[in-house]
Amino acid sequence: MSRWRASATSLSISAKSDPAMIRDVLRMGDARLLRVSRPVEAFDSPELRALLTDMRDTMAHLDGAGLAAPQIGVDLRVVIFGFESSPRYPEVGAVPFTVLINPEVTPLGNDEEDGWEGCLSLPGLRGRVPRHRALRYAGFDEQGRRFEREVDGFHARVVQHECDHLDGLLYPMRMRDLGKFGFTDVLFPDGAVAPDD
Ligand code: NI
Repeated sequence: MSRWRASATSLSISAKSDPAMIRDVLRMGDARLLRVSRPVEAFDSPELRALLTDMRDTMAHLDGAGLAAPQIGVDLRVVIFGFESSPRYPEVGAVPFTVLINPEVTPLGNDEEDGWEGCLSLPGLRGRVPRHRALRYAGFDEQGRRFEREVDGFHARVVQHECDHLDGLLYPMRMRDLGKFGFTDVLFPDGAVAPDD
């Protein structure tokens, strides 16, 4: 998922170091984004550590709020997400940085809410997507330790968005009103992308 920031972020890219770890993010239309990914079987391995390093570096470089392994062409059930809260968007609280492997997502209740989403695989676009308001998710960290959380709001939205990537789903495939899909700078000409308007 991409951050709710508009355009200025790419200007800071040159300040980041070690471009060797930055991987190309596949864009919508690439068939690899449509695959159902495989569970991770070996934890705490050099391969998994290298994958997570690349994912962290790529997400940070692109100022993303989350990234799924299929977005860099790796068909494993691995997602990362998290960001500090932003004073510009106080209604979106911080989400702790999380490595989530082989996730299981269980909706809590039947409430849905619409919210704007972006995705590093659809640069420059936003869409309004219905998601479960609250959910429980469980999975494994990098060392293979199982954990579980109950979350709601934007945290729950990010988890649903990232885990969808593991099943070959991009957010437009969840939308019910394509009239609420467009270019970020056209939808939000003042540069402020309100997540809960
Ligand atoms: Ni995405």
